[in-house]
Amino acid sequence: MPATPDLWHHYGRARAIHDRAVPRAFRWDWTQAGGPGAEVLGDLGGRVVGELGAGAGRQAAHLVVYHAPAEVLAVDASPAQRALTVGLYGHLAPRLRCVHAGAVEHLRVRAGAYDVLYSVFGAVDFTEPRALLPAACAALRPGGRLVFSTLAHHVGGAPARPEVTATEIPGRTPGGVVASMHRWVLTASVWATALERAGFAGVRADVLPAAGDRERAVGTLLVRAFRPAG
Ligand SMILES: C[S@@+](CC[C@H](N)C(=O)[O-])C[C@H]1O[C@@H](n2cnc3c(N)ncnc32)[C@H](O)[C@@H]1O
Repeated sequence: MPATPDLWHHYGRARAIHDRAVPRAFRWDWTQAGGPGAEVLGDLGGRVVGELGAGAGRQAAHLVVYHAPAEVLAVDASPAQRALTVGLYGHLAPRLRCVHAGAVEHLRVRAGAYDVLYSVFGAVDFTEPRALLPAACAALRPGGRLVFSTLAHHVGGAPARPEVTATEIPGRTPGGVVASMHRWVLTASVWATALERAGFAGVRADVLPAAGDRERAVGTLLVRAFRPAG
């Protein structure tokens, strides 16, 4: 991986000091307040599951403890986030595996290896979809599913983009210098077309209601798709 500053160094760091528990619930929405849970992933018993952009690994840890998968690979490109996952949930190995890798690079060498892939405002949001989605489709076994939550619109209210174009958003280097990164905030139909072009079928996108006051409410788009079985 290139030696660029880790713009995810600060993310979730303060929370990790005081909240080390495995979450009892799995949430897809922006505020982690409600809506559907892990059932959207299907029956995970004995399945090989991958989280793309796992952050501190909270959702992956929940799946390992409450849903009996064969294993969950928590993939993240950030050294800081991987270190948080190892510190918080390393005791869940070997069923929880912390993988330090870019999602595209990881998926490209794992053809047919996964039953289920998912992302909670994770790598799917921050990676060129025309690279990530075909790699994800190929890494699923036939009939396997991809589920991800992403922004239904930009934070602040601007609409999602009507084509596959990234938005520049602010980030912070470990030293606190302001930098920028790309985030793909796309309409449901743009995601559907990108998924179908990548080889997926059965695409479904649902908007989850935004919690919080009207000014700051952020809507979530929950997207599911399958690698065709045939
Ligand atoms: C907003 S955080 C979400 C983390 C976690 N899913 C959560 O809900 O807290 C986005 C995460 O995606 C990771 N990420 C972004 N692009 C990635 C890529 N191409 N490959 C792997 N991880 C990536 C970042 O390092 C970061 O940890």
